[in-house]
Amino acid sequence: MDASERIPRKICVVGSANVDLTFRTHRLPLPGETLAGSSLHQGMGGKGANQAVAAARLGARVTFVARVGNDAFGSEALASYAAEGIDTSFIHKDNERPTGTAAILVDDKAENSIIVVAGANEGLTPDDIKAATSSIESAALVLCQLETPLGTAIEAFRIARASGTLTVLTPAPVSLVTDELLALCDVCIPNKTEIAALTGCLIENYDDAKNAANLLRQKGVKRVVLTMGGEGALVVDDEGATHIPRMKVDAVDTTGAGDAFTAALAVSLANGLDIRQSARQASIVAAISVTRIGTQSSYPTGKEVQAWRR
Ligand code: RIB
Repeated sequence: MDASERIPRKICVVGSANVDLTFRTHRLPLPGETLAGSSLHQGMGGKGANQAVAAARLGARVTFVARVGNDAFGSEALASYAAEGIDTSFIHKDNERPTGTAAILVDDKAENSIIVVAGANEGLTPDDIKAATSSIESAALVLCQLETPLGTAIEAFRIARASGTLTVLTPAPVSLVTDELLALCDVCIPNKTEIAALTGCLIENYDDAKNAANLLRQKGVKRVVLTMGGEGALVVDDEGATHIPRMKVDAVDTTGAGDAFTAALAVSLANGLDIRQSARQASIVAAISVTRIGTQSSYPTGKEVQAWRR
């Protein structure tokens, strides 16, 4: 596709849609232990849906390609995406599997543990992606994660590559990543655990992080944006390595902050910012999200980000 035919600020997200049940507890339970929690929050989640919602709130035109169950959570999810202005034409209702569900435990230090039952997410097929070809081709970027089958991400990236749409990968769950997928990846956004698994490097300092990112680039990834939690992020590409410091905030819930970061980076790239400016913008959006409880409920709008910067 010719660059002039591409729709400005359009992002296509291929990935998971879950309902998130967030339990707050003083500390995470030990094996075999029963703990009293302090609150329960139900909201929409899933790495794909989180990225779609975060990008839409920041002003992108978003198409979300996904599967939900033919159940109450699925209908609720569809209605909530439509309310965010997301194009839901490529979200299918699966008659055989329930909507994906995540149980999330968050402790007083804002750390979390998550169990996901994939449900309908497992049913997203390469044919579902082919049906959305024109949407991928006309987008500035396509975002994938791996809570839906690997083959769907590969199909989405193949279509994107053939048409000049930028491919952006969240390599989670990391055990599913293959070299074939990495070779189709323009921007890969791992965290420290993920890059260690992908490269076999233990990340203990800045040089370890830079070396691991360069090893990932040798597998065909063009740009690596390594998120390092409290230590900020590291952008590594042909121009070298740049550290992006983290914004200091009082975190209450870090769940989904990586998805907010990825979406904000993608929106900034789609708006024409370079990768370093985009990573700075992304770190602001992620910082705002950790000051609020929940996943999608914690994502700021473009106006909130501007106000926060002031
Ligand atoms: O990245 C956070 C997400 O992981 C949650 O919303 C949960 O649904 C799991 O997919």
